[in-house]
Order: sequence, then C-alpha cells, then structure tokens
Amino acid sequence: MIKQYLLSPGPTAVPEQVLLRMASPMIHHRTPQFSAIFAETRSMLQEIHKTTSDTLMLACSGSGAMEAAVMNICTPGDTMIYVNGGKFGERWGKIAAKHGIHAVEIKVAWGDAVTIEAVQSALSQNPEAKAVFVQASETSTTTEHPIKEIAALTKDMHCLTVVDAITALGVIDMPMDDWGLDIVISGSQKALMLPPGLATMGISKKAWGIIEVSKGCNTFYFDLLTERKNQQAGKDTTAWTPAASLIIGLNEVLKMMLAEGLDELYARHAILAEGARAGFNALGMKLVSSKPASSATGAFIPESVDGAAFVTYLRDTMGVTFAGGQDDLKGKIIRVAHLGYYDVFDVCITMSAVEIALNRFGYPVQMGVGVGAAQTVLAERFAKVAV
Ligand SMILES: Cc1ncc(COP(=O)(O)O)c(C=O)c1O
Repeated sequence: MIKQYLLSPGPTAVPEQVLLRMASPMIHHRTPQFSAIFAETRSMLQEIHKTTSDTLMLACSGSGAMEAAVMNICTPGDTMIYVNGGKFGERWGKIAAKHGIHAVEIKVAWGDAVTIEAVQSALSQNPEAKAVFVQASETSTTTEHPIKEIAALTKDMHCLTVVDAITALGVIDMPMDDWGLDIVISGSQKALMLPPGLATMGISKKAWGIIEVSKGCNTFYFDLLTERKNQQAGKDTTAWTPAASLIIGLNEVLKMMLAEGLDELYARHAILAEGARAGFNALGMKLVSSKPASSATGAFIPESVDGAAFVTYLRDTMGVTFAGGQDDLKGKIIRVAHLGYYDVFDVCITMSAVEIALNRFGYPVQMGVGVGAAQTVLAERFAKVAV
C-alpha cells in the first residue's frame, strides 16, 4: 500500500466532515429544506467576498463562470481588455474569439505580474472597453496580479474589473466592495475544498448595471439575469437543477472557513506559501514567479532531471500528486499546492517528497535541507501559543 497525497493546485483535498455532509441522503432541490441551505450558503459567500451585492452559484467548472462573465458583459463586436500572463489568462482571449468580441491582449511574460502602467495604457488606448479581465492568481505560473490596483483604475470608469479568483478566493483577502472588484469568480475544487463541478460568482451593483443594458452574447444556460432572479432572497434556488451536493458541501466548507476566521485563514495560506518558497530556495530550485502566489508555488526542476518523469515518479511511485508545467513550462517545473485543506505538515511532506525524488533522479541533494528551511518558517505558525 502506498498512501496517496493530493497536493496539486486543484483538485485539492476535501475535508472529512465535508465528505460526510455530502454523503447524506439526497434531498430535492425545489424544497424549503434545500432553499434554507441555499440561502445560508449565499449569505456566507457574501461574507467571504466582503460584499453586500449578489453572489451566484453555477453548476459548471470555473471556466463556465469565466465564459458567463464575458458573455453577459460583452456583445459581439464590443471591446474588452484581458491580461494574458499564463494558461488561464490566455483563456479570456479564447472565449472572446468564440463570441466575436474584440479582445485587447496585455501580454505578460510567464512568471511576471502585469504592471499597472500596462493596464492604464490599454485603458487609455481603448476607452470603449467594457471590462478588464484578469486572474488574481495565475495558477499556471503561480503568480499574483495586482487586482486591487487594477480595480482602482476602472472604479470611476464605465468599465468593469472582472477577476478570475479560482485559486484566490479563500486564499487572499479580496474585499469586493472596498476594492471595487466587479465580478469575482471561483471554482469548487480549489480553496473551496470541494470536488469539481461548482462555480461561484460575486457580482457588484455596477456590474449588474452594465449587464442589464448589455445585449450580451447568445446564451440560454448562462444568462446571469435569469440566475439572479432565481437565486435572490425569497426564491433561494437556481434557475436550472443545481449541483445540490456541492452546494450542501459548500455550506459546510464556508462554515469551516468562517469559524477559522478570515484573517487566520489568509495568514495560514501566507505562511504555508512562505514555507514552500523557503524550502525550494534552500534546495536551489528557482521559483517560477517574480510575484509568487499564496495558493501554489512553482519551482524549476534541475536541468539534469527529466521534469516530466520526475512529477510522474512522485505521483505513481511515491503517491504524492503535484502538478507539472504547461505549454512552454511543460517538463520544466513542479507546482505544489497549499490552498484549502492544508497545513504546515503538508508543506513538510511536499519538501520531503521532492528531496527523495531528487535523490532518486541522481541529483545531489542533502536530505532535510528543504524540509528544514520550510520548518523554520512554518514553526512561526505556532509561535503565538505559549508552551
Ligand atoms: C486561475 C484559474 N483559472 C481558471 C481555471 C479553470 O477552471 P476549471 O478547470 O474549473 O474550468 C483554473 C483551473 O485550474 C485556474 O486555476
């Protein structure tokens, strides 16, 4: 028997109490019983988003909510701006192309964060743009973009800031109302600690104003105005059959997150990321990102090691699932997750597994160096409590 560890940036581990809650007997979704759970979940989602505006739950993966945002804001022929700093940023452009939307790309080198100057310049050259679409955390490069500053640019314009927070919601603080974020998207299989299949959206009043007058793109399933009508207080359901088990699971997850306390939750993610970075630095493995995310850490695999075989060996022989690189970074990097149901000892397992695998691949590694460096940082997590 080889014990399995799921340490990839999605899907992530699901807490036992959430699995148990989702395993309870199925209930019908058009009942007061389900609506009570739905209403409570919606209000907790608003707390996590720090918004008094609406939150929606959609039965799709995160990409579905990304497309829903584009389709409801933009009409074919409209202009939008998007930040392309990786695999997921690139997706905005692909969605726009499908719908005949004129998408202005801000190309960012993989591993770097977009600069405010680049966004400012795109906005001044394209004042008709309906929105700026950007990742809070670009998972393919494990990089955070400056969404607070981007939102400050669009706040007083007739232009929205739409954030893919699929690996950022529940990881970093992103107060929607304070920062003026207009749409914030998440997906269940990330820091929301659930199986895949549910997407969530926070939508500002300003965004609704634009959606209400936009003809949008042709879509039946992803008409957000129809969803708002059904998901609002008093109706407390979804337009179409909901991912009921995932919403019930989300109810449990959000209770866990709020019980931990949001400041604690963000501090935990920050220290886990710092620990992972310290571990890789100590092993001499260069970080992929110049603005590393708190959700996952990417590091270059030594050139003498076959990167694709390295990640496969970790998964299939050692039982530890991480993610490799995509596109140009394929076979060159490893991405380790620390978002959601993870704590300090998961980072220790990560560093220990990487060290053993490096050793197996003949790379000269002094065992314990990465784990030790991570531990030194991670010990801080317990420093507040006296022995
Ligand atoms: C930042 C980001 N955006 C979008 C996606 C796509 O989400 P999904 O796979 O749930 O459609 C992912 C998934 O890894 C992601 O990390």
